[in-house]
Amino acid sequence: MNVDVLLGLQWGDEGKGKIVDVLTQEYQVVARFQGGPNAGHTLEFNGIKHVLHTIPSGIFHEGVDNLIGNGVVIDPLVFAAELVKLASVDPNAFPRLLLSRKAHLILPTHRLLDAASESAKGAQKIGSTLKGIGPTYMDKTGRNGLRVGDLELPDFQDRYEALKKKHLEMLRGFEFPFDLDAEEQRWMEAVQHLLELRLVDSDHYISDALRAGKKILAEGAQGTLLDVDFGTYPFVTSSTTTCAGACTGLGVAPNRIGRVLGIFKAYCTRVGSGPFPTELNNETGERMRQVGREFGSTTGRPRRCGWLDLPALKYAVEINGVTELMMMKADVLSGFEQLSVCTHYSYRGELVDRLPYSLEEQWVQPQFIELPGWNQDLTGMNRADQLPQALLDYVAFIEKAVGVPVTLVSVGPDREQTILRV
Ligand code: IMP
Repeated sequence: MNVDVLLGLQWGDEGKGKIVDVLTQEYQVVARFQGGPNAGHTLEFNGIKHVLHTIPSGIFHEGVDNLIGNGVVIDPLVFAAELVKLASVDPNAFPRLLLSRKAHLILPTHRLLDAASESAKGAQKIGSTLKGIGPTYMDKTGRNGLRVGDLELPDFQDRYEALKKKHLEMLRGFEFPFDLDAEEQRWMEAVQHLLELRLVDSDHYISDALRAGKKILAEGAQGTLLDVDFGTYPFVTSSTTTCAGACTGLGVAPNRIGRVLGIFKAYCTRVGSGPFPTELNNETGERMRQVGREFGSTTGRPRRCGWLDLPALKYAVEINGVTELMMMKADVLSGFEQLSVCTHYSYRGELVDRLPYSLEEQWVQPQFIELPGWNQDLTGMNRADQLPQALLDYVAFIEKAVGVPVTLVSVGPDREQTILRV
C-alpha cells in the first residue's frame, strides 16, 4: 500500500479541505504533514460550514484516523479552541485524532516574534498570518524548538523557560510592546488538552499502517507557490508545501508515494504580499472576490484575484509529480463572456512558458489567450454530462497544456457539488 498525497498547486486556499472530506471514504488514515494554524480548511455539508486549522479534514468520518504529523507546528491555544468547536459538532470525534510527539509547539513568544518581525519589515512585510509559523520553524531548524513529546518529560517547564528567555532577549531588539502574562497562562492551560489526546510516534504509526494495508491520504496545507524552496521566496510560508513535504512531515519513504492529487482553482488567488503576475486590480478581480467569497478563512483578509496562470500550474505539476488534477470553483467563472488564461510570460524581453527565477512585476509580463466563457449556473449540477461545452473546452485546454487529466470539477462549496470525470 502507498500514501496518496493531496496538495495545493497555487498560493493556497484552493479548496483542499473540501476534497479531502469528499475522498476520505476511500481512506483509513488522513494525515496533515506541514503548516499549522496559518491554514484554514473549509468543509461544508448538511448546510453547516466548518473551518479547520490544525485538525485534518477527514475528522468528520467515522472509522478514519486523523493524524497530525511531525511536520506540523501546533499552537495549543488555537488547537484547544478547535477542539471545543469540534466537540460541539461531533462529540465522538476525539478518539479519531492522533498527534505526533515530534510535532513542534508554537509558544506565545513565537507569535510575538512573528508580529515584531513583520512590523519591523514595514512595506517589505510578508503578509504573514501572524500565527508564529516562521519563528517556530526557525527554532525547529535552529535546534531550539519544543516538541509535543517534551510535554511528557519531567523538565518541560525548564525547557519552556529556557526558550522563552531566548525569545525575550530577541524581542528586546525590536521596539514592540507586549503583555505576555495572560497569554502565557492560557497557553499553559491549553497544553493540558494536548495531553488528553492520543500522542503517537507518528513515523512508526505510518509504517505500521502501511504494513497493515491501510490506505493513507496525506493532506497538504498552503500551496506549492508558498513552498519555502520553490515558492515566490521570500513571500512564502516556512514549510515544505510540496509533495516532498509529505515524506519529511510524516516519515514516508519517497518510493511509498502513490497518487498525487493536485488541487487548483479555475482562476488564481493569493493572500498576503508577493508577486502575482495575473492579478486583476479591477472590476473583474472584484467580481471574482465577491462571487467566490474570496476572503481568508483564517484572517478574514480579502484575497487578491486573477486569471489562471499556466506556466505556474505546469511548474507545480512537475515539482510535485501530480498524477491527477482537480479543478475547484468552476461555478465562480459562470457569466464571464471571455476568460483569459496566461500561457506565457514575457521575461526580461524573452517569451517563456516556464516559471522564471523572479516573478517580480518589473521582469515578468503575463501573455494571455482568450477562451469563450459559459453562462450556465453550475451549482445544481452533479454529473459530468451536464457541464457546458465551453467549460469542457476550458478543461481540455488546461489538460493539453499541463499533460495531466482533470478528474474532478467542483461547482460549489458543498460536498454534493462535486463532479467526478472518471
Ligand atoms: P505565514 O505562513 O503565516 O508566515 O504566512 C506567510 C505567507 O503565506 C503569507 O502571504 C500568508 O498570507 C500565506 N499563507 C499562509 N498560510 C496560508 C493559507 O493557508 N492559505 C493561503 N495563504 C497562506
